[in-house]
Formats: sequence, C-alpha cells, structure tokens
Amino acid sequence: MNAITSNVVHTGLPKRVKIVEVGPRDGLQNEKEIILPEVKIQLVDRLTKAGFSNIEAASFVSPKWVPQMASSVEVMAGIQRKSGVIYSALTPNIKGFEAALAAGADEVVIFSAASEAFTQKNINCSIAESIARFRDVASAAKQHKIRLRGSISCSFGCPYQGQVPAQDVAAVVRQLRDLGCDEIDIADTIGVGTARQVQNVMQLVAQDFPLAHLSGHFHDTYGQALANIYASLEVGIAIFHSSVAGLGGCPYAKGATGNVATEDVLFMLQGLGIETGIDLDAVVDAGQFISAHLGRKAVSRAGNAITAKKIN
Ligand code: HMG
Ligand code: MG
Repeated sequence: MNAITSNVVHTGLPKRVKIVEVGPRDGLQNEKEIILPEVKIQLVDRLTKAGFSNIEAASFVSPKWVPQMASSVEVMAGIQRKSGVIYSALTPNIKGFEAALAAGADEVVIFSAASEAFTQKNINCSIAESIARFRDVASAAKQHKIRLRGSISCSFGCPYQGQVPAQDVAAVVRQLRDLGCDEIDIADTIGVGTARQVQNVMQLVAQDFPLAHLSGHFHDTYGQALANIYASLEVGIAIFHSSVAGLGGCPYAKGATGNVATEDVLFMLQGLGIETGIDLDAVVDAGQFISAHLGRKAVSRAGNAITAKKIN
C-alpha cells in the first residue's frame, strides 16, 4: 500500500506507548547530596497522579556503592500506591531481591551490560558472573510471581571499552530471555547512540526477543535521545524510559548526562498523536518540584517552556 494518501502520512508508528518513569531511581541515584525519603516519596506520588503505569522507585543495591539509594525501604513504604501501577526496584543479587520483596516491589530489575568493562565497574563482576547471580533472582521472582525486567547498559557504546558490537547486545538479550525476563531494556547509558545504529541494534535483538517487550532507555548526553526514540518507534518499539526533569547520570559512567526528559518525550509523542495516558502538565509540575528541591533548573526544554508560559 502507498504510504501517502492525499496529505496523510501513514507512518506505521505505534498508536500507544508505555513510558517507564525512571526519575526516582536512575534520575536521583547520582545526586551527591542525600535527598530525604519524604522528598522522594512526594516525587513518586506526583508521578503516580500524573498517570504513569510504571515507575522505577527504588534500588536495592549496596549502600556503599550507591549511597543515595539507601533510603529505598522508606521510599517504598511511604509511597501511596495506585492499583495497576508497577513500582519497580533494581536488584543486582538475591540480597537485593529479598529486600525488594519485603518492600513490596511489583517488578524487579536485573541489570548487566553489553560491555565487560562497564559490568565490572558497575556491579563488580563479569557479564557471565552477573547472569549466574541473576539465576537465583529470576527463579525467586517467578516463585513470588513478581515481574522480571532485564536491563542492558552500554548497548550503543561504553565509557571504558568504546564501541560495542550489536552482536554483544544480542548475546545478553538471549541470556536475559532465557532467565525468563518479561521485558528487556536496551540502554544507551552514555547517550552516544545515533538513529540508524539504534534501529540496527533494535532490529537485531528483536530476532531473539519479542519487539513488544523490548524498551529503549536513552540518555541525552549527545542530544540524540529524542531522535533515537523516534528511530525506535519507526521499528516498532513501544516502551521507553525517561526521567522527569531530565534527572540522572550514572555513577559508573563519568560525564553521562541524565535520561531523556519525560516532558520532552511526552511533548513529542503528543505531537505524533501517540497515546501514553500521562498528563504532561502534571509531569511538568513534578519536574519543577524536584528541580526546586535540587536547587537547579529542570533539564527539559518542553518542561521549562511550558513553565515559562504558565508564569507569563
Ligand atoms: P560487591 O562488593 O562485589 O558485593 O558488590 P559483595 O557480595 O562482596 O558484598 C559487599 C558488601 O555489599 C557486603 O556488605 C554485602 O552485604 C553488601 P559488608 O559485608 O561489606 O557490609 N551487599 C548489599 N547490600 C545491600 N543490598 C544488596 C547488596 N549486595 C551486597 N543488594 C554489588 C556487588 C552488585 C552489590 C555492588 O557492585 C552494587 O551494589 N552495585 C550497584 C551499582 C549500581 O547500582 N549502579 C547503578 C545502577 S545501573 C544503571 O544505572 C544503569 C541503568 O539505569 C541502565 C542504563 O542507564 O544503562 C540500569
Ligand atoms: Mg540510565
């Protein structure tokens, strides 16, 4: 069929997209000043009210490695949960899983990388060792009927090793699939991926895992995140991660900026007529709330523009 009839372009983009809001975890984990759990709880509650169906709220990792996440128990205990919303937590090992289970996480996230060097810096083991550790987590998650998500950092480039072959991403996808992951994140930890590369990697890994359960996790270090999301939409990806106010950075990826700002993603998706079920204005307010708390301007073009319009 012709892609263009009269002046209507049939893009073939997904009609609906799921946004996983990762601000409370990926966004805040790198903040040097310890943020009180009350503030994190307020942030999660605002995001819940904004309509997200999935919020990454906590991380049960070693507090020596990531001190900012040490309050995850309090955060999970304090949030006002809305039925149907998935509140996720990172769990690098069975100790983390047990904490996440006790805290009532709806989804646990096992996380490795497509780069050996990054895996070593981030979780102190090789990719193979990480998969071996995840076996216990995966079977415990299945036993407790908790959703299992797998995340692959450095899928488009690594701060230590440089280039990352697409085949290396696919190899980790297959291992996470075999552990029983419900969803797998293809993450651009340092934001170096570009549109065509993103499409190539997504299309390759979709040969090993259902496209509908793959997600794109883009950081905006080189200003490519929205282009990479659009490129992913073109190949049928319909789950994306983003951070309110563009919060973020990874403690083990020097110089990496935040995740793509949720406000910017929502503005683009609205323009494309793609549904998310999320109230952009409420997200902008949540972004202003946390940015005011952190004492700096939100890293969201759309968020700041909408706020400026409201003030004027
Ligand atoms: P290790 O030092 O090799 O672990 O760290 P260990 O088993 O030898 O334990 C050392 C100590 O940590 C012990 O305590 C354990 O009890 C404790 P000690 O006896 O010294 O007092 N410990 C824990 N404490 C709390 N919760 C736990 C836990 N496990 C051990 N779950 C480990 C290995 C994986 C624990 C460590 O490397 C770690 O916590 N790393 C986390 C790093 C991290 O959180 N990075 C950021 C998240 S990844 C990311 O942001 C990327 C992503 O967003 C996607 C993207 O953008 O690319 C997902
Ligand atoms: Mg990230």
